[in-house]
Amino acid sequence: MRLLRDIYLIGFSGSGKTTLGEALSKRLKVKFYDTDRLVARKVGRSIVEIFDDRGEAYFRNIEKQVIRDVVKKKGAKVVALGGGAFESEETRILLNKNGVVVFLWCSILEIYKRIKYRFDRPLLLSENKDKESNREEKIERITRLLGKRQVNYEKADVRVSTSRKNIRLTLQDIIERVEKCRLSKSS
Ligand code: S3P
Repeated sequence: MRLLRDIYLIGFSGSGKTTLGEALSKRLKVKFYDTDRLVARKVGRSIVEIFDDRGEAYFRNIEKQVIRDVVKKKGAKVVALGGGAFESEETRILLNKNGVVVFLWCSILEIYKRIKYRFDRPLLLSENKDKESNREEKIERITRLLGKRQVNYEKADVRVSTSRKNIRLTLQDIIERVEKCRLSKSS
């Protein structure tokens, strides 16, 4: 498939946006951008440091600017967005107008498994040191946040499950769905 419109990957932390986005861009021979990396580069700090020093509102503001800039870049591309980016109506309208939005869906337990040893997601960090309550607290946080965001994630053009392990099949799934959607969006 020759990519004619951008592909924007949205979904919760751990849903595979960056891993799949990178693989997809290689397969389609187009550029890949990750908005978290762009935010960190623009501010000169890690995402955790930005949340700690300047707070979430500051992060969201830079995130919106970075998305506006990346959408303007020439040529079709694959973009992985931070898990909360699609909460902004401005961003939803922008992405919807400029490409195909793909919601990468993943089960709560699978998300938990993928992020339990990661400490770079400020909204999912838990204060609990005890292993069992830490697990419960994290799963509860994921459930709450995902429940709040689901309504906007569902506004994507297509939804693809990433719970299955095989990356090659998941990529194929994304490509087929995007192609179908692209045809219906341009007709
Ligand atoms: C966030 C998800 C993170 C990052 C920031 C906020 C969120 O990106 O943008 O920590 O609000 O869910 P990933 O989805 O890549 O983890």
